Amino acid sequence: MRGSGPLSGQVVVPGAKNSVLKLMATTILCDGAFELTNVPDIVDVSIMGDLLAAIGVEMSRPAPGELVLFNTGEIIPVAPYELVERIRASINVLGPLLTRCGEVRLSMPGGDDFGARPIDMHIAGLEAMGAEFKFSHGYLEARADRLHGAEITFDFPSVGATENLMTAAVLADGITVIDNAAREPEITDLCEFLVAMGARIDGIGTSTLTITGVDRSDLSPVSHRTVPDRIQAATYLAACSVAGGELDVVGARADHMTMLLDRFGDMGLQIDAADDGVHVVADGRPRSIDVATLPYPGIATDYKPLIITMLSVADGVGIVTENLYPGRFRYVEELQRHGADVRTSGHHAVIRGVPRLSGAPVRAHDIRAGAAMVVAGLAAEGETRISGVHHIDRGYDDLVGRLSAVGAVIERC
Ligand code: UD1
Repeated sequence: MRGSGPLSGQVVVPGAKNSVLKLMATTILCDGAFELTNVPDIVDVSIMGDLLAAIGVEMSRPAPGELVLFNTGEIIPVAPYELVERIRASINVLGPLLTRCGEVRLSMPGGDDFGARPIDMHIAGLEAMGAEFKFSHGYLEARADRLHGAEITFDFPSVGATENLMTAAVLADGITVIDNAAREPEITDLCEFLVAMGARIDGIGTSTLTITGVDRSDLSPVSHRTVPDRIQAATYLAACSVAGGELDVVGARADHMTMLLDRFGDMGLQIDAADDGVHVVADGRPRSIDVATLPYPGIATDYKPLIITMLSVADGVGIVTENLYPGRFRYVEELQRHGADVRTSGHHAVIRGVPRLSGAPVRAHDIRAGAAMVVAGLAAEGETRISGVHHIDRGYDDLVGRLSAVGAVIERC
């Protein structure tokens, strides 16, 4: 790719990876054919499809952006290493398998390479609901004749733990209360999917979820439209910020990105919510700001590589504080290869903006870092070659095609 801009035109944002993978895993709960629409065409969906096929849910793609998941009723509660190690979201089969089958054997999950990602909260919550766990040879095994309701208070609003406990509680005996639950838009999407299936959940969108267990016969398969991907939407806003220009980001939900859009406004982007998305205008260099990542409704950690890239070419000095994953600064050394002035210390990064980056060979270390490399390439004079782009494919639906359609000079080789 080459430094580009100004960008102009329309970009359509597909459904969220971090929602669709969880919706897919949840189809384990009841037999029959589910339909999902607004599904992103990303590699992680295929991997989750392969994992579900091994478990007993068959996936087909009747049309672009659509999935049919057919739960055969013959569920095998085993998630093998070869599939689980490829995506973090594979941990989301734990709750549905355990609550449906009373047992599960799961290889410990993999995913992005940005530090330890423990699952102690998932396990403690399921134990409070009556499960017993054993660990051996890289597998965890859990058993529970029937899970029962429990009152669970999280130390931290973990997205994955909230999802696993919520799906497990749907078929548990009695009432489960999850306090300090995560409330990301993708969690709300999952709640709405479950409620449409026949689950009983109160407190949707808040940090206290109350789930009243039902019988499997009370659930039925549904059709559901996946919530739009706020991280992909933010990527196009960041691209516009560093390259300049004007974009319609169609499908973006401004109400799911309120705090981010405020901060992007502070950086000088003019953003207006429209009926079908957001309209953004970028005129001149971004301004520096200080940002800290926090659980929703705070600034998501997944936005951070994009924000640091924007700050690399902003006017002034910005400080970014990571509160979720301390190790999530690996892409900084790649930005430095572009000439960015970024220093990290523990949870903090200090970014002194420079007027322009320079093209360089760089590597994508994970999905979001890879997207940030693409944004950096737009702001860099000369040619940038990005390797490791298979990471980007895990979470982005035709990033290259979407950006080149609005004027970026980028191609895949
Ligand atoms: C999800 C998203 C990921 C996003 C993250 C935070 C998916 C597939 N991934 O990941 O893109 O960056 O939310 O918004 O949806 N923790 C524990 N013990 C646990 C669980 C979590 O200590 O049992 C810690 C984690 O190490 C991390 C923090 O809690 O420091 C957040 O994790 P969590 O919210 O669970 O993120 P994921 O669901 O893994």
